[in-house]
Amino acid sequence: MLDHLPKAVSVYEVSPRDGLQNEAAQVATHAKVRLIEALAGAGCKRIEVTSFVSPKWVPQMADADQVCQMFERREGVTYSALVPNRRGLERAFAAGLDEVAVFLSASETHNRKNVNKTIAQTLRTFEDVIGPAVDGGLAVRGYVSTMWGCPYEGHVPPERGLTIAKELLDAGCYQVSLGDTIGVGTPVQTRDILDLFLADLPPEKVALHLHDTRGTALANVLVGLEMGVTTFDASVAGLGGCPYAPGAAGNLATEDLVYALDGMGIETGIDLDKLWQAGQVAEAVVGRELPGKVHRAGVRALPS
Ligand code: HMG
Ligand code: MG
Repeated sequence: MLDHLPKAVSVYEVSPRDGLQNEAAQVATHAKVRLIEALAGAGCKRIEVTSFVSPKWVPQMADADQVCQMFERREGVTYSALVPNRRGLERAFAAGLDEVAVFLSASETHNRKNVNKTIAQTLRTFEDVIGPAVDGGLAVRGYVSTMWGCPYEGHVPPERGLTIAKELLDAGCYQVSLGDTIGVGTPVQTRDILDLFLADLPPEKVALHLHDTRGTALANVLVGLEMGVTTFDASVAGLGGCPYAPGAAGNLATEDLVYALDGMGIETGIDLDKLWQAGQVAEAVVGRELPGKVHRAGVRALPS
């Protein structure tokens, strides 16, 4: 264990989307913009800024177009957004983003609750999204949710997720991010899922998107690192959840991830002190305490 660590890791920041989509109170557009700019200022290189979904389904993201008009672009940062269909893609093109992410679940019931379609129908919808996005110059990422467990169906055979992931990659996604949507995963399960995926796919095609509901996300990251995965999704201060996954908490807090990686000598390009400040912005933006461990304890463990 810990003998095969990478030199560098890519952190994919999801707080402005996965975090803010779940807030009960409507967050002001300018406050969302402040958070995005603080994250880019801390050195985050990949930021999921919003989602172009139906405002009837997720009212918190209704101002996605305005958010994208307002935040200042920083050189070297990839700005991405979630899109469920062609309409979402058109909005992403108009917003001038670099990347879009399509999403579906490995379990039928969660998929139906989240996007009102079967898995097969969702994949058909993506035929009108992934190819045209790539042709239009956008990078496309794919999410496969409920890989570690579904809030409605319980255990989900990982083979189902692999079949979906391969379809997404064949269609033009450059990477699939495997979602522990409700944060139930444990390390041996993570090893088993990655054993299956990495037997078929190169590690750079696989990312981990771990909600930290039960405090196991970082342990699962360690398994991923050891097995060759180098992209991890995270949310500053642990902001977030999924509106269609009851009980889901935020993603692994970005500060907790970066603190651990810094300590292991693994580069992220993120400045932890500035990231901690971005976590303060996140807390001010939502007006409530956020749960990230480093966010709460502070960056410095020892006097220097
Ligand atoms: P539907 O109701 O079946 O479809 O929703 P529809 O085509 O009939 O659309 C309903 C209304 O929305 C229509 O408006 C459409 O025009 C409009 P109306 O005619 O009634 O006035 N509409 C749109 N408006 C703006 N932008 C669009 C768009 N599409 C339709 N792109 C649909 C189907 C997929 C649209 C809906 O179910 C939806 O938006 N779902 C999104 C749910 C969501 O965002 N969930 C959270 C993100 S996923 C997640 O968090 C998991 C993840 O983090 C990974 C993990 O943790 O595992 C990614
Ligand atoms: Mg999520």
